[in-house]
Amino acid sequence: KPRTKYVGNLLKSRLNTRIRTLLSDIGNAGDTLGMEIFVVGGFVRDLMLERPIEDVDVVVEGDGIVFARYFSSIHHCRFHQHRKFNTAVIIFEDGFKVDVASARLEYYATPAALPVVENSSIKMDLARRDFTINTLAISLNAESFGTLIDYFGGVRDIKDKIIRIIHNLSFIEDPTRIFRAIKFSNRFGFRIGKVTANLIKNALNVGAVKHLSGLRVLSELKQIFSEDNPLPAVQTMADYGIDKVIHHDLKLTDTTCALFRSVGKTLAWHDLLYSDDVYPRWSVYFMAWLHGYSFTVSTQIADRLMFPIKEKELLLEQRIKAAQQIRLIEKKHPVSNQQMYRWLIHFKTECLLFMLALTKKESVRKAISHFYTHQRKTQPLIGGKDLKSLGITPGPVYSTILNKIIDEKLDGKLNTMEEEIKFAKEYAFENKLI
Ligand code: CTP
Repeated sequence: KPRTKYVGNLLKSRLNTRIRTLLSDIGNAGDTLGMEIFVVGGFVRDLMLERPIEDVDVVVEGDGIVFARYFSSIHHCRFHQHRKFNTAVIIFEDGFKVDVASARLEYYATPAALPVVENSSIKMDLARRDFTINTLAISLNAESFGTLIDYFGGVRDIKDKIIRIIHNLSFIEDPTRIFRAIKFSNRFGFRIGKVTANLIKNALNVGAVKHLSGLRVLSELKQIFSEDNPLPAVQTMADYGIDKVIHHDLKLTDTTCALFRSVGKTLAWHDLLYSDDVYPRWSVYFMAWLHGYSFTVSTQIADRLMFPIKEKELLLEQRIKAAQQIRLIEKKHPVSNQQMYRWLIHFKTECLLFMLALTKKESVRKAISHFYTHQRKTQPLIGGKDLKSLGITPGPVYSTILNKIIDEKLDGKLNTMEEEIKFAKEYAFENKLI
């Protein structure tokens, strides 16, 4: 029997009207179809932890596809079904999604003359999950709306701040859970329980991560590196010797830890000021993780993790270029605005952020952030058409002129189209182009 608790007040105080209405609409649709329905997993965990809620995952006792079809028809949204897994996604007009899974009612014949028992299928569904903190469910049917159902001690473990698996073969069945344990422990500041930690060590000893496909390890690492502060997780991975399993030369040094802290500060600065300039957050930490390893070792790591070609290029070529560039800038600093522009303009945001994190020189950091803030978007207001109408014959000279305009603009000159045209005209005249 599960422990239950009424958390309707928590739903009221913590959720916005839209999500609350959505949950009761889901419950009502379940009632109409005669299906028990629950919101589960990360949603409930984050609700209890008072953290922002991102996904709504529901489990239906019955056919989730039938439920999604019915719900979509009465609420005018779309849905996608995955027959193979008996799951569906309900998609609202603005793109908001609800994942629907099916828990089957299963009947077990008990020995002797005892009756056949119906095992609560939500329990079976929750029992397959990774950690106790992810096994909580809240009933959405009108009669029991807001009842929290706790079969595996998830509430207690949230209170005790502990990550615990539900059954001993969990990490063997799915070794990606080793990374997930570390991710959650880092994200929530929870410790990994003693038995759970020993099972991680056992799984590592029998080669669970060694035999995991690169793609799956990569996906977990990207998630860890996307967290607010991945450093404690990287340290925990090193403590378990997971980095060594990925590549025997990987070793977490004080230099890498310091670089991670520096990346953290840089990203915090960037995200505060430039929240609309999106970049793959994980990639900056990945560059920091690989910094200091030779091209050969980095290539072996990238191949082991089956990096797609574009990302591999970023983490190998671009990262090394960025590191070389920052050393050159440190050596030559201060340089003209124009020189800085030409050096930096081809680097992506994530590489510029990595460079900012790499340099220890305050003046260099200032110069790069100046480039980022004021010069990066510098473009002439006029184009080839305008040059043509001045009577200049098209050719390589066009880019020469446009580049000269950029040079002027980098010094704060030529602020209007008229000024640029005047400049182009004078240049063409002096060089006998017209
Ligand atoms: N799950 C699992 N084993 C995995 C991955 C997922 O048991 N290897 C279960 C977890 O119990 C989780 C659910 O599937 O609650 C959904 O997983 P996921 O989409 O990763 O969601 P969250 O737990 O919410 O994680 P995050 O907050 O990082 O999105």
